[in-house]
Amino acid sequence: MSRPKELRGKAFDWNEFRRLGPLARGQWRPLLLALFLIPLSTLAQIAQPLVVKMAIDQGIIERQEDVLLQAGLLFFGLLVFEILFRSCHLYLIQAAGARILRDLRSRMFSHTLRLSPGFFGRTPRGRLVSRLTSDVEAMSEIFGSGLVSILGDLFLIAATILTMITLSPSLAGITLILLPPLGISVSWIRIRLQIAFRKIRTLIARKTAFTAEAIAGMDIIQTYAQETRMAGEFEEVNQEERDAELAGVRHDSILSALVELSGSLSLALILWWGGLGVIQDTLTFGTVVAFIEYATRLYTPLKDLSAKYSIMQSATAASEKVFGLLEEKDRIEEPSSPTPIYPTSKGLVEIRDLHFAYRPGEPVLRDMNLTVNSGERIGLIGPTGCGKSTLLRLLVRFHDIDRGQVHLDGLDLRDYSLGELRKRIRLVSQEVVLFRGTLEDNIRIFDSQKDPERLRWAAETTGLQAVADRLPDGYQTQLGEGGSGLSFGERQLIAFTRALLDDPKVLLLDEATSAIDPRTESLLQQALSGLLEGRTAIVVAHRKATLNRVDRIVRMEASSPSS
Ligand SMILES: Nc1ncnc2c1ncn2[C@@H]1O[C@H](COP(=O)(O)OP(=O)(O)O)[C@@H](O)[C@H]1O
Ligand SMILES: [Mg+2]
Repeated sequence: MSRPKELRGKAFDWNEFRRLGPLARGQWRPLLLALFLIPLSTLAQIAQPLVVKMAIDQGIIERQEDVLLQAGLLFFGLLVFEILFRSCHLYLIQAAGARILRDLRSRMFSHTLRLSPGFFGRTPRGRLVSRLTSDVEAMSEIFGSGLVSILGDLFLIAATILTMITLSPSLAGITLILLPPLGISVSWIRIRLQIAFRKIRTLIARKTAFTAEAIAGMDIIQTYAQETRMAGEFEEVNQEERDAELAGVRHDSILSALVELSGSLSLALILWWGGLGVIQDTLTFGTVVAFIEYATRLYTPLKDLSAKYSIMQSATAASEKVFGLLEEKDRIEEPSSPTPIYPTSKGLVEIRDLHFAYRPGEPVLRDMNLTVNSGERIGLIGPTGCGKSTLLRLLVRFHDIDRGQVHLDGLDLRDYSLGELRKRIRLVSQEVVLFRGTLEDNIRIFDSQKDPERLRWAAETTGLQAVADRLPDGYQTQLGEGGSGLSFGERQLIAFTRALLDDPKVLLLDEATSAIDPRTESLLQQALSGLLEGRTAIVVAHRKATLNRVDRIVRMEASSPSS
């Protein structure tokens, strides 16, 4: 997509609406019913001034009391119907909107769950969060207060104009004379509004991203005493957002004022021209009163319409972002008919002429060759940034290679299903991510299917059992977000136990570079011996003791810096 997204001044993008169709498909029944209620409530509204006209011209002026009673009853009846139809209509679309929103949120989240690590690598987290929350919310207005009721307003405006022309073409002309200039100025303001709303949505995403990053990096910010600078930077984004919001509000109030002014001017014109007509006997008194009613009713939906239009514009701006995410195709492809990996898998890894770059023209791995025999343990060393972690990530298909071959048991990695591959080749990365939940939840990653016996065995093997015994509630101890309260070594043990639980054939271990005390060192070395037992392993090793444990050491060269 190459279109300049932020500042397109087009008022309404019908393409956006076409994309909404499939979302509303499950809710077509209530939406259709709501649509059907529009002409009914419009008719009930349009008829009311006619009843007033009848009461004045035939009841009051001709002194017929029974007509007055009929008119009164009729007016009341019409009002009741109007309210009834309108509230049903409102309920139906709001309920449909809420369901569409729920479906959309779920769809967005499951779509996001399947995107590739490469995508998450280049997309700021906060931006994703605002796509998944505030943008979806704003977008749902299209269904909630938007599309269908805008149709209702348009219908009411058209019906009102038609009735006025039927009653008196000349007075209708006088009443409507202000509409064309109003229309032109309104559409100009709408374009400004659209620009303001796009900007607001972008700024909100930026603010969320900035906030999320600041919270995640609070330690660093405080260590380097960057509080003032960060606050200043936030202030900047905040200010920009406020300015954009003010621009929106400004244009919005100009819009309202214009519509109201035109409404009042129309009323004055009706009084003058209509009054003249009554004096000259070309118009009845009832007709003039009916026109005053119609003019008031005409400008109310016009004003509503502009308010709804603003909501819709903010919603379309959000919807562009939402669909941008939904149309993101960057995921790791699964084979259509995957080859099963048998438990008897040998765990033979062969890498041939492997070539990989995160960004075109900046290769990280070039013509790499490596065979790791079944049960063999490789210690991987090399300068920082030479691609050790990258190689491990390629072996679990977090990214797909550009050229060459990577085989497990003689077959390309892409022949296996992703789930199975990552179960057989298990990656333990440097950073240990812990979720909010108990220690046991964190070992199982919330998968209740996993055998508790095996869990105990894995914990014994890595030495996590001793840690669990020390915790107040054992395996049921609640771990905070980020696993606060656990030491570095303890968190490593959790990661080892997780990996061991599924009995992988190949273990990929990215040893953390952090300096550790001798006690933790011996703890981790013990865990490691249990972990590597009977497995093919590639270990990015930073510690001497780890290197003593492997069968062969492979040194990687620094990838030449790109010019
Ligand atoms: N997600 C990424 N996107 C772009 N470049 C990356 C990414 N991850 C790592 N790199 C780059 O790839 C090179 C190898 O990184 P890495 O595999 O982490 O090295 P090592 O683990 O050997 O220190 C580095 O130059 C690094 O900047
Ligand atoms: Mg690394």
